[in-house]
Amino acid sequence: MTSDQIEARIDELLSAMTLEEKAGQMTQFFYFAEVDPESDVDVMGDLSSQPAMVERELAAGRVGSLLFCTQPSEINRLQRLTIEGNRHGIPALFGFDVIHGFRTIFPVPIATAASWDPDVAARGQAIAAKEARAVGIHWAFAPMVDVTCDPRWGRIIEGAGEDPCLGAAMAAAQVRGFQGDGIGSPDTLIAGPKHFAGYGFAVGGRDYDQSHISDEQLWNVVFPPFKAAVEAGAGNVMTAYMDLNGVPATGNVWLMQNVLRDTWGFEGFLVSDANAVRNLATHGLAKDLTDAGVRAVSAGVDLEMAVDDPAYAHLVDAVRSGVVSEEQIDTCVRRILRAKFQLGLFEEPYVDEQRAVEVLSDPTHREAARAAAVRTAVLLTNEPVDGQPLLPLSPEVKKVAVLGPLADAPRDTLGPWVFDFDLTETVTIAQGLRERGGDFGVEVEYAPGIRHGQRTFASMFDLWEGNAPVDPEGFDEEAEFARAVELAAGADVAVLVLGEWQNMIGEAASRSSLELPGRQLDLLDAVAATGTPVVVLLMNGRPLDVRPVMEKAPAILEVWYPGSQGGHAIAALVFGDESPAGRLPFTWPRSVGQIPMVYSHTISHEPENQWRRYWDVESTPLFAFGHGLSYSSFAYGDVNLSATSISVGESVTASVDVTNTGDRDADEVVQLYLHQRWGTASRPVRELKGFQRLFVPAGQTVTVEFPVGPEQLRYWNAAAHDWVIDPSLFDVGIGGDSTVELTVSFEVREG
Ligand code: BGC
Repeated sequence: MTSDQIEARIDELLSAMTLEEKAGQMTQFFYFAEVDPESDVDVMGDLSSQPAMVERELAAGRVGSLLFCTQPSEINRLQRLTIEGNRHGIPALFGFDVIHGFRTIFPVPIATAASWDPDVAARGQAIAAKEARAVGIHWAFAPMVDVTCDPRWGRIIEGAGEDPCLGAAMAAAQVRGFQGDGIGSPDTLIAGPKHFAGYGFAVGGRDYDQSHISDEQLWNVVFPPFKAAVEAGAGNVMTAYMDLNGVPATGNVWLMQNVLRDTWGFEGFLVSDANAVRNLATHGLAKDLTDAGVRAVSAGVDLEMAVDDPAYAHLVDAVRSGVVSEEQIDTCVRRILRAKFQLGLFEEPYVDEQRAVEVLSDPTHREAARAAAVRTAVLLTNEPVDGQPLLPLSPEVKKVAVLGPLADAPRDTLGPWVFDFDLTETVTIAQGLRERGGDFGVEVEYAPGIRHGQRTFASMFDLWEGNAPVDPEGFDEEAEFARAVELAAGADVAVLVLGEWQNMIGEAASRSSLELPGRQLDLLDAVAATGTPVVVLLMNGRPLDVRPVMEKAPAILEVWYPGSQGGHAIAALVFGDESPAGRLPFTWPRSVGQIPMVYSHTISHEPENQWRRYWDVESTPLFAFGHGLSYSSFAYGDVNLSATSISVGESVTASVDVTNTGDRDADEVVQLYLHQRWGTASRPVRELKGFQRLFVPAGQTVTVEFPVGPEQLRYWNAAAHDWVIDPSLFDVGIGGDSTVELTVSFEVREG
C-alpha cells in the first residue's frame, strides 16, 4: 500500500470508530501467561488472573497491542481474538523486549558497545528481528540508548555506556539492524529506542529515581543517541519512567513535543514505559487517572503500556468533558494504525508456526552470536608470567582448572533481559574451554568452589522459569572450596570466572557497592596462594572493584555476559585463536565513591592531580574509557591535518598511520579525541569524535582518516540555548584509548 492509500484507510477507520474503540487502540497490555506458576516472587502482586482479564478486554475490542507473548501459536490465538473482538478487524501489535537476541542470545548491549563495531550491533539485531518476527512479534522495545555514567545503576548493562558519540553510533546501527530496509520489510521489527529521556542519571544510581540533568548535558550527552536513532528511522520511541528536572518524562510536553517531534521530526508512535501513564498520578503530577491520561496524550504519548487498569480507558470521559479533544485522540490513533498498516498486519496478521521453528534453529544465527562475543571481550590486563604475557595460554599449558560457579552457569552466560532462551544449547565457559582445550590435548577440569545464587532481594525477573539462581542440591561449600583449590594446585593455569549473577544487574538491580559479591575473593585468594598463575574472566555488565583481583591475577579478560555461544567465543580468545580487541565503553572507577566519573570532564578550577581531588584515592580511573589490550601491538604515527586553519563551517581531515608491530594479525580500535581550548563555555578536556575498528595484518600499516567539521566542533551552549561553534584552537589526538596525547592543533576562525 502506498502511504496515501494508508492514510485514506486510516481516515475511513477513524471516522467509523467510537471513542471507546479509539481508547482501546491506545492501550497496550502485558500478557503474563508465561510467568512461572511455581515462582515464589511477589513483586508485582498476584498476576494469576491477569491473562484472563486481558483476553476479556481483547474480545471486547478494548486493546490494540500486547506485550510478553512469545509463542507463535499463542500469538496467533490472541491475534484471532483481537481481530474478531473488534468490528473493524483491526489486528493487534505485538511488542517485546528483544534486547540482545530472541532465541539466539547475543552478548549484552554494553558488551556490544565494547566491540566498538556498529556492524556487530546491526547484525545481531537483524538476527534478533528475524527470529522474533518469525514467532509473531512486530516491534522491539530496543535499542536502549540511555547514556549513563553511574555503574551502580543496573541498567548500565542495557546501553552503550557513557559516551554520546559511541552511543549514537550504536543506537543508529541497532535501528538499522532491527528495521532493515524499513518498517514492513520482511523479517524485521519496528525499533523503539528508549527511555526518552534521562533515565541513566537516576540519582544515586537508584533505579527509577529522579534525574536532574542540565540543559548542557541533555543536549550534548543524553540526546545524541536518541537523535541518531530517530534519524536512522526508528518507528517508535518509549518514554522514561522518572521525573526529569522535576517533570515526569511521560507527561513532559517539552521533551516529547518540542524536542522529539518538533526539533527532530519524529513521526512514529510514542509508547509509555510500563504503567508510566497511570504513574503520572503516583509522581504527584496528575490529580487522578483521567488527568494522567490527558497529560500523557497532551505530551503526544500514543500508546499506554499497562499491566491493568489503564489510564487511557478514562480518555472517553475526558473527551466528553472537553479536557482533551477527539482530534488529539485521533492523532495518536492514526500513528498506531499507521504502524499496523506499514507492517502489513491488515493483510497478514498471522504467523506461519512451521517457519518459526526453522528460523529459530538456523545455525548461522549461532555462528553470528559466537563471532559477536569474540569481538566484545576486552583484555583489561595481561602481565607476563615467566617472561610471556599470560594470555593467550601458551602451548606448554597442558592442564587447566576452570573455577567459579559462573564458569558453568548457562543462565548467567546469557545475561539479563532474555526470556525465550534455550539453556540446552547455551555454551558455558567451562564447556567451551573443555572442547577447544581437547583439540590441543589440554585437560580442562571444572569446580565451582563456592555457592552460586546469592540474593538479598528477589528480582522481578525471577518470575520467569529458569531465571532464579540455584545451587545443586546438597552443595557442600567447604568441600567444594577445597576441591577447587586442589584442582588449581594441580593445574598449569587456573581460569577463574568472577562477576555478578545475571539477576544482580538490569532493571531494578542497582547496587550501592561495586565489590565482587559473595566469597569470590576468598576463592581467588586461595587459588592464587597455590602459586598456579590465575587468569580471571569477568562476567558482569558494570565495572566492579577489581583492585584486589589485579593483585592476584596477572591477566583479566572482561567477557561480559557473552550469550548463547559465549563459551566457544571465550575459548577462542583464551587459547589464542582470536585476539581480543574490545574497548571499554565506560570509565572504570577505582571505587564506588568516585562515581560519577567520566573521561570527558572539564578541567574546572585546577588541572586534575595538581591538587588532589580526593584525599584518599587517585582522581584517575582504574581503567580509562576506550581501554583494551591486544595480543598484538600497535604503533601510531604522527597525526596529520589537512589544514591548520579553517573558518567556522568548514572541515579538516585528521589522519594517522597505524602499524601492527606485533607478529599476529589483529584488530585495533582507532579513536579520535578533540579538545576546544577556549570559547563561550569551558569544554571537556577531550571528547570522542570518531572511531574505527580495523583489521591490521601483522607488520602492516593502515592509514586512517577522520573528518572533523561542524558536526564534531559544535556543541550545545546552555547560555546561548543553542548549538554554537566557537572560534578557537582545537587539539587533536588519535590513539588506542582516551588517555592518548592530543598532539596537534588547528584553528577555527570566525566565519
Ligand atoms: C522497562 C522497559 C521495558 C518494559 C517492558 C519496563 O519495566 O523499563 O525497558 O521495555 O518494562 O518490559
